Amino acid sequence: METIPFAHYQESADYLAARLGDFRPEVLLILGSGLGYLADQMEEPLAVPYGDIPHFARSTAPGHAGRFVFGTLRGRRVAVMQGRFHYYEGYTFGQVTYPVRVVRLLGAETMIVTNAAGCVNLDWPAGTLMVMDDHIKLALDSPLRGENLPQFGPRFPDSSQVYTPTLRALAGQVAAEQGIPVEHGVYLYMPGPQYETPAEIRAARLLGADAVGMSTVPEAVVAGHAGMQVLGISLLTNMAAGILDTPLSEEEVLQSAAAGREKFSALVLGCLERMGSAGSALPG
Ligand code: HPA
Repeated sequence: METIPFAHYQESADYLAARLGDFRPEVLLILGSGLGYLADQMEEPLAVPYGDIPHFARSTAPGHAGRFVFGTLRGRRVAVMQGRFHYYEGYTFGQVTYPVRVVRLLGAETMIVTNAAGCVNLDWPAGTLMVMDDHIKLALDSPLRGENLPQFGPRFPDSSQVYTPTLRALAGQVAAEQGIPVEHGVYLYMPGPQYETPAEIRAARLLGADAVGMSTVPEAVVAGHAGMQVLGISLLTNMAAGILDTPLSEEEVLQSAAAGREKFSALVLGCLERMGSAGSALPG
């Protein structure tokens, strides 16, 4: 895997900076299945298709539009990714995480990332919202493999707090205030695209996972490397493989994502509104 040169990230960021005038995002919002419509609630939105941006990959997943929408949402200057890149689509981790670094170069200090995931924890029902307290990544590849770009962060970044404790606590607080039930748990990353086997889910549970999914972790690793605060929230759209008798399907996941989207978006918007400025700086 060839390291993407720093100049590419910078050229993408420079292009966006020129399109954005004085506007600079504080928060990067990566919205998973079914939540992209949040961008429709933005004030003075500016949409930029990924295809316009030098060095950008294009999104192919169904239900993913493939563009940034910049603007103000709940008083925060945000960059919303409508459409994201998944490893299972054939992108490298470098491509999957490319937008995170570009938006970091534009000045964003916080990332909120959402996803649909399977529920591994037998005490929770399908439809549970889960704040990601931590993750397990068994996939051997890493978005940070290859030459380190010190403009973003160190060679061997600490991973003991990828998901920012204050933001995890804030999400719990906002959920309690809004009467939205949430759990806190561990997300196991699987590259997909096949759903897991029942044996893999039993193994996931033994390893300490509460949820399993095919996104978010590469982006979180890269955001953490670049000193960003990260909040991850999962909607557990289905019980993971082997727990129920029914086979898993994308249809079930999308239907369940649609059913949960009101409480999911209320939680995300509430967190956005209440989060303070991160106050961190790009290292170097
Ligand atoms: N496994 C992996 N990814 C998923 C699942 C699942 O059960 N549900 C939604 N995304």
